[in-house]
Amino acid sequence: MKIVLVGATGTIGKAIIAKLEKEHTIITASRKGADVMLDMTSVASIQAMYAHVGKVDAVIVAAGAAYFGPLETMTPEDNQQSIDSKLKGQMNLVLLGLDHIQDGGSFTLVTGIMMDDPIKQGASAAMVNGGIRAFVKSAAIEIPRGIRINSVSPNVLQESWDKYANFFVGFNPVPAEKVAQAFVKSVLGGQTGQNYEVY
Ligand SMILES: NC(=O)c1ccc[n+]([C@@H]2O[C@H](COP(=O)([O-])OP(=O)(O)OC[C@H]3O[C@@H](n4cnc5c(N)ncnc54)[C@H](OP(=O)(O)O)[C@@H]3O)[C@@H](O)[C@H]2O)c1
Repeated sequence: MKIVLVGATGTIGKAIIAKLEKEHTIITASRKGADVMLDMTSVASIQAMYAHVGKVDAVIVAAGAAYFGPLETMTPEDNQQSIDSKLKGQMNLVLLGLDHIQDGGSFTLVTGIMMDDPIKQGASAAMVNGGIRAFVKSAAIEIPRGIRINSVSPNVLQESWDKYANFFVGFNPVPAEKVAQAFVKSVLGGQTGQNYEVY
């Protein structure tokens, strides 16, 4: 398969590459250090990426920033960062990717545990995660040409624990390898409209 992987240089992206690169052609996309330059917050950048890569069998997104911070001090601008990146960025990769994905191809997006298991300072991130889950569930029933769409909802990763431990007190982090396996299930399996929880 020819697969575009957005966020390939990240913690989850690297684990996905390790699982797929032997048998598939992976085109990496992000703002730096990838095969194709992409800023997913920009419609023009997404269009340019698809024009560059041509037809693909699968698009995987393991990227999208979300704002972490106390609700009491969160500004509309803070919240907008989550909307522009993790919510609209991922949705736009689907909307603008429909003409570039083969019949029977797939999109796999990323959400996250905090929409189901809330943490302090996580309201904005939880909101975009829930938005992506709802989008995937709805899009799956009308997406054309046998194209499938799923999302993966990771718990906090063991590999990210140093960075996020203070936010996720009492959580049991999971290995990136286990999260990557859910992306593999989405791309190579037959299901659609799913949100794979790796909790
Ligand atoms: N790590 C966790 O514990 C965890 C848990 C649950 C959910 N998640 C979610 O999983 C996703 C990936 O997490 P991660 O920990 O793997 O992230 P990460 O290690 O910070 O990597 C992020 C990746 O996304 C790319 N990226 C960032 N902004 C981008 C943009 N505007 N356009 C295109 N590419 C962009 C980065 O490359 P450039 O900077 O070069 O663009 C990098 O390849 C995020 O949405 C995160 O919320 C993570």
